[in-house]
Amino acid sequence: MARFSDEIIEHFTHPKNVGELPEPDADASVADPVCGDQVHLTVRVGDGRICEARFLAHGCAAALGTASIVTAWIVGMGPEDLARVDEATVTQRVGGLAPGQSHCARLAVEVLHALADDLRTPQGSE
Ligand code: FES
Repeated sequence: MARFSDEIIEHFTHPKNVGELPEPDADASVADPVCGDQVHLTVRVGDGRICEARFLAHGCAAALGTASIVTAWIVGMGPEDLARVDEATVTQRVGGLAPGQSHCARLAVEVLHALADDLRTPQGSE
C-alpha cells in the first residue's frame, strides 16, 4: 500500500479539531516509549456521550492524521464504546496503515482507553 492512506493525508494536511478544550470533562495523554510520538485529547460530554473533542499531537504524519480522524470519529461515543476500540478498528478507520506504522493505531487505542478510564472516574476523585 501507499505510505499513507488518502484519509491520513487529508487529515494531516487539513487537521480537524486541533487544540485543547478549556475545562474539559475528560482528558488523556499518551506517548509511545519507542518513537516518542505524543497525543493529548480533551473532550466535552453531554448525556454520557462525547459531544466535542480536540487533540494536540507531536509526532509523525500518521500519528497527527490519526488523531484528527479520531476526534471526529469519537463524537457520540460513551466510555464503553471507547473501551471497545481496538487496533484493527482504528487501522480500518484511517484507511489502513503501512506495516511500520501499525504502532500509530496502538497509540490511538491507548489514548482512547485512557480517555474511557478518565470518563469513568467520578469528578473530584482524582
Ligand atoms: Fe510512532 Fe508515529 S512514528 S506513532
